[in-house]
Amino acid sequence: MCGIVGYVGNQEAVPFLLEGLRRLEYRGYDSAGVAVLNEDGLAVRKRIGRIANLAELLREAPVAGRVGISHTRWATHGGVTDDNAHPHTDQSGALALVHNGVIENHGALREALARDGHVFRSQTDTEVLAHLVGKHFQAVRGGAGGVAVSAAQLEEAVRSALSQVVGTYGIAVVHSDLPRVIVGARRGSPLVLGIGKGEHFLASDVGAIARHTREVVYLKDFDVAVVTPDGFELSTLNGGLSGYEIKAVEIQEKDVDKGDYPHFMLKEIFEQPETIRDAMRGRLSREEASPKLGGLNMTNAELRTVERVVLTGCGTAFHAAMVGELLIEQLGHIPAEVEFASEFRYRNLPLPKDVLVFALSQSGETADTLAAVRESQRKGHRTLGICNNVASTIARESDGGVYMHAGTEIGVAATKSFTSQCTVLTLIAFLKGRIRHLSSAEGLRMIDELEALPDKVREILKLSDQIREVARKYSHVQSMMFLGRQFNYPVALEGALKMKEISYIHASGHPSAELKHGIIALITPELPSVFIAPEDSVFEKNLSNIEEVRARKGPVIGIGSEGSRRLEQICDDVILIPRCPDYLSPILNAIPLQLLAYHTAVALGCDVDKPRNLAKSVTVE
Ligand code: G6P
Repeated sequence: MCGIVGYVGNQEAVPFLLEGLRRLEYRGYDSAGVAVLNEDGLAVRKRIGRIANLAELLREAPVAGRVGISHTRWATHGGVTDDNAHPHTDQSGALALVHNGVIENHGALREALARDGHVFRSQTDTEVLAHLVGKHFQAVRGGAGGVAVSAAQLEEAVRSALSQVVGTYGIAVVHSDLPRVIVGARRGSPLVLGIGKGEHFLASDVGAIARHTREVVYLKDFDVAVVTPDGFELSTLNGGLSGYEIKAVEIQEKDVDKGDYPHFMLKEIFEQPETIRDAMRGRLSREEASPKLGGLNMTNAELRTVERVVLTGCGTAFHAAMVGELLIEQLGHIPAEVEFASEFRYRNLPLPKDVLVFALSQSGETADTLAAVRESQRKGHRTLGICNNVASTIARESDGGVYMHAGTEIGVAATKSFTSQCTVLTLIAFLKGRIRHLSSAEGLRMIDELEALPDKVREILKLSDQIREVARKYSHVQSMMFLGRQFNYPVALEGALKMKEISYIHASGHPSAELKHGIIALITPELPSVFIAPEDSVFEKNLSNIEEVRARKGPVIGIGSEGSRRLEQICDDVILIPRCPDYLSPILNAIPLQLLAYHTAVALGCDVDKPRNLAKSVTVE
């Protein structure tokens, strides 16, 4: 949510900034802007809309300079206008700042600054922070009694301003009197520093700078960085030394490129045979007929003492957590419950001592999930992360966890991360079962089933053209219903979420049997129902629910098991996929629903990778 890129070096800054912003566009795309330093001072260009609009503005009104900061916005405070676009400048107009996060006490700060004569041009919380830093910078310089301006003074001003702030931030600041310096800082929003030869970068996500650097430092909360072409210094907000580690960049160019696919979302859907395999790679031991998950940082004896599991996350990760709840109960025989991270953080859930809390997050940066992790740790619960982004805050702050290894996910609508999360959760539940009650024969059978998944996914992907035809047939509808039971109820919710997110067709997900308790009132010939009805333990029940819809002339699309004649007979359209045990069906059944949403959105001409109003990584509450 909001992306920042900064460049300081010996080359023209704008091409780096634009390229980086394009790579961060998934974080928000309401407006974009740059601030560049050159001999004439500070030049700011910003415009509402996509990065392409900013690039056009920069063609009309170019700016030269070898130091610059830039931003792509997902609006929180203040509407989508040119004035509200970042960078924001201070009262003097010589300092510019970009920000990812929310300054919660911006109202009080704004009033105090206004009383001192500060005039604001935008409705944003960020402009208040720019003025505050500017005010402190004036004070520091004034206090220095005419001593030449230094980077340390800007750093001190940033520190003083941030110590007055309540909220979250990843920021980058430049001042026209310091033409070779960027000051960055973070609390709650990610910021990474890229190391080059005679140049350095700042970015919200390593993907933005991966082409230009192979070495990075991930800033920690309360780090302040002073960055110049030749080096950088990191300190803490209160002026102490900040220990840091230089890490190798793990992602490759191909991870952030959509290759021959028309959209990242389609590329990521088609990557699932590999990403599911990668989630299991090296983690299944035939010798022990068991998963091995070293990252949990727990011995089997410790795992055996776990009496309850809580799973938390947001959006798609929450749906995967719902699958996890069922898996842990069914395979692990341990009571499990799932809670939205945004609720968990404010709930005072009475939990036993031997509880294990799992936080699921693709990005590892979602503010609500991070807050849930911290709250859980505060109460002394062992809290583990299931993240994709290896260097993310949740991954770092958790007591252990299991990485998804799904590769960079750029499409705003999560796809491969859902199936990877479900795969990882299956391994966790399987491990818990295996150390308690599952036999080694059952363990080996489960390993066979897990290893068969990638080929089954490949079979499903071959149905993409057929699913496109179904999508086209129904793309005119106003509303859709997704229904499933047991393991496929969370899948119904996820199918509905995908449809809403990218096609803007209203969709809702329900347990099939709940139909008759109210929602059946909605059924008309204009409202299609998508039933996820594999031949599992509740197949007959699903068939009855489908009949109830058919009796009221509601069209039905069935997602079922290969060769399922009975489903074929009663549905208007069917998508039949390879069979698997109940506990693996969310992984397979999610894929036709991803494709259905994708092809519907394409048929409607929607911007699949950048859906309206959304951002991939929501780093504000
Ligand atoms: C946002 C995205 C969703 C995503 C959710 C959680 O709302 O639009 O697609 O599922 O955040 O993201 P996370 O990175 O924590 O999995």
